[in-house]
Formats: sequence, C-alpha cells, structure tokens
Amino acid sequence: MRVLTIIPTYNELESLPKTLGRLRSAVPASDVLVVDDNSPDGTGTLADNIAAEDGQVHVLHRQGKEGLGAAYIAGFKWGLAAGYDVLVEMDADGSHQPEELQQLLDAVENGADLAMGSRWVPGGSVVNWPLYRQAISRVGSTYARLMLGIRIKDVTGGFRAFRRTTLEKLSLDEVDSVGYGFQVDLAWRVAQLGLNIVERPITFVEREFGASKMSGNIVIEAMLNVTRWGLAARWNKLTGKTHNGK
Ligand code: GDD
Ligand code: MN
Repeated sequence: MRVLTIIPTYNELESLPKTLGRLRSAVPASDVLVVDDNSPDGTGTLADNIAAEDGQVHVLHRQGKEGLGAAYIAGFKWGLAAGYDVLVEMDADGSHQPEELQQLLDAVENGADLAMGSRWVPGGSVVNWPLYRQAISRVGSTYARLMLGIRIKDVTGGFRAFRRTTLEKLSLDEVDSVGYGFQVDLAWRVAQLGLNIVERPITFVEREFGASKMSGNIVIEAMLNVTRWGLAARWNKLTGKTHNGK
C-alpha cells in the first residue's frame, strides 16, 4: 500500500519540523504532503527546505487561509492523482502521535474503508486539553451520534486513514464545511455510503507551540450542519428516498 500523510499547516513553524521528524521515523514508508495556506510565519518556506532534503516530503502551497477543509480537499486530490492507496489526515501541531499512525494503517490493511483515531473509545485519552474543549468535543460527538444515527464516538477527530476508494466515492467538490464541521461532514458521507468505519484509540496531546485556529463560529457551524443533516436523513427515510441527500 502506498501511503500519503497529508498535514495542513497554518503558522506551525515550531511544531512542523518535530512532527515531520517523528512521522518519518515512525512510518518511514509514508510519503508526506504539507498543505500550507501561505502561513505568515514562514511555515511554507520551512516545509520547502525540508522537502529539498527529503524526497518523500512534498509541499502544496495555497494562496491564503481557506480553512482546514479546503486544504484537505486539495491534498486529497493531489494524492489521488499521484496514485496513493491510503490517504491520511494528521495535524501538524503534535496533537496526533505519529507513533500511533501504524495502527490506523493496519486497520485499513485489514479491511477498513476509513480508520479513525478516537479519543473517546476505551484506551483513548487526551493530555493537557482544556476541560471546555473536552466538553465541546464530547457533547458535539454525542449530539452528532444521536442526530445522525451513527456509531462513531469521536466524530470530529482529525487523525484518520482513508482507503483511496473511499475518497473516490465521495463528491469532494461538494464538501464546503470548515473546521470540525469538515471532519463530521466527511465521516457522515462515508457512513451514508455504508462503508466500513473503525475507530482506534489515540492519545491526543494539546499543542505545545502556537495557537489553535478553531473558533466559536466553527463549533456553531458544525452543530447547525449536524442538525440539518440529521433532519434531512429522517425526512428522506420517511419519504422513502434511499440515498440521504444533503
Ligand atoms: N492549510 C491550513 N489552512 N491548515 C489549517 C487551517 C487552514 O486554514 N486551519 C487549521 N489548520 C491546520 C493547523 O495548522 C493544524 O495542523 C491542524 O490544521 C489542526 O488545527 P488546530 O487549530 O490545531 O485545531 P485544534 O487543535 O483546535 O482541533 C483539533 O481538534 C479538532 C476537534 O477534534 C484537530 O484535531 C481538528 O482536526 C479536530 O477537528
Ligand atoms: Mn491543534
């Protein structure tokens, strides 16, 4: 399996080299694509310098900050065009442990269409994450689980391995959610296709450097979308439509 790990960056100058170093030693077979949104702190240039030394590291430069979702969509398209079999989502800031990636890849190798790192399954945990963020994540995930009727425990999580064919079945151009909403959106699309989703426990460690890019608006967008999608799914079920359109 050819694996591409996609790492979106916006102002991750201190974190990125550490994360890349750990990733390259933990899973040397994985190629890497850094998707930088023209970070003012020069993360993009730093990524170029690393890529010049390491043929397995690539950089996709985008014009400006358009959100996590748009960066991943661009990364997925790049990776699909380049022929990768598995495409991984991973944060740059050290919250996702590269040493825990192999278990996600193993799950895909063993038949998962989407393997998701999960903080909220037995064995999963969070370190140094403020209580209010934990609360938002738990409440948001529970709400999404009930509203959408899916089993996923950590639906906003951003450490994931997609089988290539899974992404090929999604209409990536239709996805316009940002932030956590993007993660929920993709999980929901995969769930609606009836594909095989597995969760594996991960340890999520709050970043040491820099700041989170998530905001209150992003939380509200995600909640509103989940409500809309859940209602639409119920409506479609009532009116007998087989595919839950959005
Ligand atoms: N290219 C690009 N453009 N990258 C971005 C952007 C953007 O507009 N916004 C954020 N990123 C990158 C960050 O640089 C980081 O590598 C990653 O996306 C996650 O962003 P954070 O700002 O660190 O997110 P968080 O720690 O608050 O949120 C985490 O938890 C969420 C809830 O579970 C992440 O794991 C999210 O993926 C997750 O949804
Ligand atoms: Mn983070």
